[in-house]
Amino acid sequence: MNPSTSAPGAVLVLNFGAQYAQLIARQVRACGVYCEVVPAGISADDAAARQPAGLILSGGPSSAYGEGAPIADPAIYNLGVPVLGICYGQQLMAMQLGGDVEKGGGGEYGQMEITVTAPGRLFAGYAPPGTTLSCFMSHGDVVDRPPKGFTVTAVSASAHVAAMECTERGLYGVQFHPEVQHTPFGGKLLQSFLIDICGCDGNWQAANFVEQAIEQIRRQVGAAGVLCGVSGGVDSCCLAALLQRAIGSQLHCVFVDHGLLRKGEADLVRAAFSDALRVPLQTVEAAEHFLGRLSGVIDPEEKRKAIARAFEEVFKAEAAKLPGVRFLAQGTLYPDVIESGAGDNAATIKTHHNLYLSKQLGLELVEPLRNLFKDEVRAAATELGLPQEMVRRHPFPGPGLAIRILGEVTRERLAILREADAIFIEELRSAGLYDDVWQALAVLPAIQSVGVQGDERTYGYPLVLRAVTSRDAMTAEWSRLPWELLERVSRRVVNEVKAINRVVYDITSKPPGTIEWE
Ligand code: XMP
Repeated sequence: MNPSTSAPGAVLVLNFGAQYAQLIARQVRACGVYCEVVPAGISADDAAARQPAGLILSGGPSSAYGEGAPIADPAIYNLGVPVLGICYGQQLMAMQLGGDVEKGGGGEYGQMEITVTAPGRLFAGYAPPGTTLSCFMSHGDVVDRPPKGFTVTAVSASAHVAAMECTERGLYGVQFHPEVQHTPFGGKLLQSFLIDICGCDGNWQAANFVEQAIEQIRRQVGAAGVLCGVSGGVDSCCLAALLQRAIGSQLHCVFVDHGLLRKGEADLVRAAFSDALRVPLQTVEAAEHFLGRLSGVIDPEEKRKAIARAFEEVFKAEAAKLPGVRFLAQGTLYPDVIESGAGDNAATIKTHHNLYLSKQLGLELVEPLRNLFKDEVRAAATELGLPQEMVRRHPFPGPGLAIRILGEVTRERLAILREADAIFIEELRSAGLYDDVWQALAVLPAIQSVGVQGDERTYGYPLVLRAVTSRDAMTAEWSRLPWELLERVSRRVVNEVKAINRVVYDITSKPPGTIEWE
């Protein structure tokens, strides 16, 4: 589905700050309601044209009084569609409808208590007046007086408006964040809004997406051919399986073996396509080409550019052999789309890169996964019958091991990292912990240190092990892997990989660290 053609009955999340809106979108979908994130300034006419079941105004980093603070089209409050304002969204609603918002007055941060003061539809069924609830707040400005016609349904410990509603007009506001884990009743509140107030049926599942996407792909590409680059990760495998269902022999899948893959990966990908997916796959052996492009390159961004250029060259050559191809399929996911709309740098680079590549090839983009989160891609992949081994695979970056080798990428250093990485992953699987982490990886720094093995002094590379838990890679926490596992990996790596004489474990979360080292 394309953002401009969302199905009637979806909930629209107006985006006043990327991370907040993204989290709301995830939680709304977790309630079984399809939703899309749209720019904060969407016009009431555009919003109405999508026939939404409800609107949610997200929180955001701005002060409602700040210069250039984003505002909503005031006509959205008169569409007859229920609106829920969250944090900044509530303040904006109060301000735009004639209430009072106090700038910086008694902000509240962290776990807070609120008291339900009047019967409210958002609290119906689980929190009658007099109930005290714990929730997460993070705001500087406060609503002092709600707009005319609104009832205050909950107050904070500092007596500010924690929740308000005007049921006649279907307008609701909360000062706290129902979308975060630290608001334990947040799921119930969202359910009240989505199911009881907006009238959604709560039956949406990522798996439903498959049939819709197939229709959409057929409509978009007609009888033309589609070129699909395959990396072996869950996104591109799901993409290929979906396209195969939609357009069969019009699909041309190309797997570029750039020589920067993990141990045994190329064989795994080929076997998955031939045995499990039954999708024809053409492999391009391009290790020489990529390594040539990477020769002497040390700077991480230069590496990415060199790899992007090499991909472009390979795809150009492949596309030239397929005259019927008019489309390039990419596995862009929803976080990239939301983030790039909000100006996040890394995601902008990724979406621009996709656009750039398709333009260079003279092909139009097909991005059927662009409205899905990673866990939803996994659900869709399962629905499409992909083997669980592929569905559960950890994410692996497009530039492959090149961005896990600090300094120059050479055949020798690739071989070292490949062996060490394979030992780490094998031991993680044996310990039954592979599925508990978002991503586990090994990094080869460009330094050497002294060690001793047997009677000999050694001068070898250290290996950095990294494992993180995360929901979507935007933030991540380092995994508390058992010492015994780390010890086993360390012992095996220094014994089995000659060039490595030391193993360290990265205990940095994101932020401030990133998941990858480059
Ligand atoms: P960072 O390192 O930014 O990574 O915390 C977040 C997620 O993105 C992956 N990653 C990449 N994926 N090309 C990709 O396709 C890249 O250049 C790239 N850099 C990071 C990373 O593995 C993690 O899942």
